[in-house]
Amino acid sequence: MRLIRLLQASACAATFAISIPQAVFSDDLERPDTAGIALACSGCHGSSGRGMGSIPAIIGIPESEFIRTMEEFQSGHRSATVMDRIARGYQHQDFVALARFFKSR
Ligand code: HEC
Repeated sequence: MRLIRLLQASACAATFAISIPQAVFSDDLERPDTAGIALACSGCHGSSGRGMGSIPAIIGIPESEFIRTMEEFQSGHRSATVMDRIARGYQHQDFVALARFFKSR
């Protein structure tokens, strides 16, 4: 009985170990959670990034320009009221995914 439990536990651990790298790989460029990350932007930039009031639109910006802008916000090289703090919460691959997401809106 104890041996069976041990086997079940190790089979479970093996399945878990295999599923983690798959999740990391599929997460790469076509990040399934991009729409979820973009939701964090829509509170200010509008549900599809078209801007709201004094907040600029972020749709249709060429990918490299979008990424550069976010990196400048992150490093503090671009003046900002809020985007410097927001950009610090993301990594380069998030900027790539967000650039693609909003470019096609
Ligand atoms: C709290 C409101 C708020 C949120 C949330 C927010 N932004 Fe912004 N965003 C702004 C404001 C305000 C500006 C103008 C720069 C500044 O004052 O910080 C801006 C500017 C930008 C710009 C530059 C646009 C231009 O033409 O100059 C980009 C790109 C951008 N935001 C992307 C994003 C992305 C991507 C997210 C989500 C990860 C996001 N923003 C979330 C308020 C917000």
